[in-house]
Amino acid sequence: MNKKEYLSRLDEQNKIKKLMKDDKYLLNFHLIPPSGWLNDPNGLCEFKGINHIYYQYTPFSAEWGMKLWGHYTTEDWITYKDEEPFLFPDIKEDKDGVYSGSAFIKDDEIYFYYTGNVKYTDKKYNYISDGREQNTILIKSKDGFSYKDKKVLLKNTDYPKDMSCHVRDPQIFEKQGNYYMILGARDLDDIGCVLIYQSKDLENWNYHMKITTPKKFGYMWECPNLIEISGQIFLICCPQGIEQDGINYANIYQCGYFPLEIDFERKEYKIGKFIELDRGFDIYAPQVFTDEEGRKILLGWMGIPDAEYTNKPTIEHKWQHALTLPRELKAIENKIYQSPLKELSKLRTTENREIICDSENVEINFSFKKCIEFKIELRDSIELNYKNNILTLNLEKCGYGRKERKVYLKNLESLQIFLDNSSIEVFINSGAEVFTSRCYCNKLNSNLKFIGNYILKDFVWYNLKNFKIENGER
Ligand code: FRU
Repeated sequence: MNKKEYLSRLDEQNKIKKLMKDDKYLLNFHLIPPSGWLNDPNGLCEFKGINHIYYQYTPFSAEWGMKLWGHYTTEDWITYKDEEPFLFPDIKEDKDGVYSGSAFIKDDEIYFYYTGNVKYTDKKYNYISDGREQNTILIKSKDGFSYKDKKVLLKNTDYPKDMSCHVRDPQIFEKQGNYYMILGARDLDDIGCVLIYQSKDLENWNYHMKITTPKKFGYMWECPNLIEISGQIFLICCPQGIEQDGINYANIYQCGYFPLEIDFERKEYKIGKFIELDRGFDIYAPQVFTDEEGRKILLGWMGIPDAEYTNKPTIEHKWQHALTLPRELKAIENKIYQSPLKELSKLRTTENREIICDSENVEINFSFKKCIEFKIELRDSIELNYKNNILTLNLEKCGYGRKERKVYLKNLESLQIFLDNSSIEVFINSGAEVFTSRCYCNKLNSNLKFIGNYILKDFVWYNLKNFKIENGER
């Protein structure tokens, strides 16, 4: 779908937007697609004071389809502009979708690297070892809104011979005077890994090395981010094909990170144990960028591919999925901590200490002097239970097939809970653990109920304002 085709269907899009307006499950302080479907955040960057948030976007259907890059901008993380889609599939190397990619800023220009998806349909293919092209493509932009041309940098034949056709989602970083590109991959033995390419000029790339685990950990690693936080290196990625193990790896696909020690020159590395970034139902394809203040900011897709549970209530209104709240990352002893961006506290209106909590948009904070066990009824059938050091998020009928997710905690010190119209994010112990989920409640509770064996240090909740979303027409 090129830009012309997209523009010729704006009436259709306006109809969808009208239908969406009647949806009681629209999110108020999260980014959703203006119409249709959204998945991964892409190309995140701050350029000249403007944060650019691009995302995988299918504007005319609430289901998986042809991908464009949709586009929001924000200067303060409270007010957003809904911009015209940035990237369209319009060359033969990306004709079946402009897939995920990222941004790298160099000399007053943004370099965007993404995957051009091509699917052959002339005969029968398995689409694993054949039938698919995943081209790595570069575009350069001086403003984040326009670019001149697309340059194909790497094709399937440029990836190592033992790779399947699944090599995608480039991310770029600089280390000791070299540029590196990391790509998620599946090899021909169905082993998940990431590939690293090296470049001196950001345009010519040579294969450098591969990273995987000593023992197979899934068949495909999607959306890798190699990042340094507080002097520690982490490989964030989304491995597919991991079996559930007790309360761990409960989702169909995983979203987490490996602590990493790596010597790029010697091509040597030591990879730590995989840690789940989030223990909720709806979390995938997170992307991290460094803003102009130097903060590491993460946004994720508040959704997951191929899940059994559904988002039927919103699909009926012709939209599906959202992005998570923006989160700042910190690291302590090989563990990532996520906390909602400080700007989000500007959404707070009234401060309350009563247990009457009947707002659509709330932030609830608990801190504990001591906590042995409890049950907290949050909204409709949503509960948090803590017992024997296991914290359980229980959605029951609000989950539309999402029942419960659990996490083990050595102790429980604090909970910061964000409830939007149809989502919940729970930041536990200053973001050491997080639960992110969609939920579809019929009623807002008038009372928060908590019972158990605990001593509160503090309890406060806030009504939150909606994000302000303007039309960013230029
Ligand atoms: C992850 C993903 C990426 C791909 C994109 C396509 O959700 O499958 O690997 O680039 O979505 O929309």
